[in-house]
Amino acid sequence: MSAPNSEPTTHSGEHITTADFSLTINGQTYDLQGIDTRTSLLDLCRNTLALTGSKKGCDHGQCGACTMLVNGVRVNSCLTFAVMHAGDEITTIEGIAPPNDLDDDSAPAKLAPIQQAFLDHDAFQCGYCTSGQICSATALLNELRENTPSYVSVNLAQPLPDDLGEAIDQHALRREIRERMSGNLCRCSAYPNIVRAIEQAFAIELDALKPTDLTDNQSTTEADI
Ligand code: FES
Ligand code: FES
Repeated sequence: MSAPNSEPTTHSGEHITTADFSLTINGQTYDLQGIDTRTSLLDLCRNTLALTGSKKGCDHGQCGACTMLVNGVRVNSCLTFAVMHAGDEITTIEGIAPPNDLDDDSAPAKLAPIQQAFLDHDAFQCGYCTSGQICSATALLNELRENTPSYVSVNLAQPLPDDLGEAIDQHALRREIRERMSGNLCRCSAYPNIVRAIEQAFAIELDALKPTDLTDNQSTTEADI
């Protein structure tokens, strides 16, 4: 990032400080010039880069509609300045799904499991909060995978059992999901379906994490006996 340029710029008679910097968003680098250093990450994405999937609900850090991931951690993009994120990996809702096969126009659009789960469980009505909910849920799944505790975790070292063969305590999981999603408001009150969608995505994650060769090894052992 270059040093901020403190240029007297006519904007209601104010002096505006601008800066030139690069941002990496959804794997793509954007070289930006003359950006007002007071521009939020949300406004930059929506107004300058035409990444309009992230929504502005309150612009005060209270609703979560603007949630994005910065280096895998969720942030309210309305509360952070774009200029602070040169060198960070930023993911918006437009970058949550795996990339499509650009050589095959007939291939159906791919969705991330959490996006499919929102469809399967009808986890929205108007959809205004949905991009923030999905980005937040993506980070939530990372947190659970990494055993990051929340306010309601009884065992701070291990919020959920890590023995993949053991049944997850569904009540504990729901408590964790509700607490961890409490920063994302939904005016349509789709909360029960949002929780079910995240449970489904988590179950898919658990299945994917199970060692695939476990059954083969067991059958080999049994055959040997
Ligand atoms: S728009 Fe950012 S938290 Fe509401
Ligand atoms: S689906 Fe309408 S605000 Fe959440």
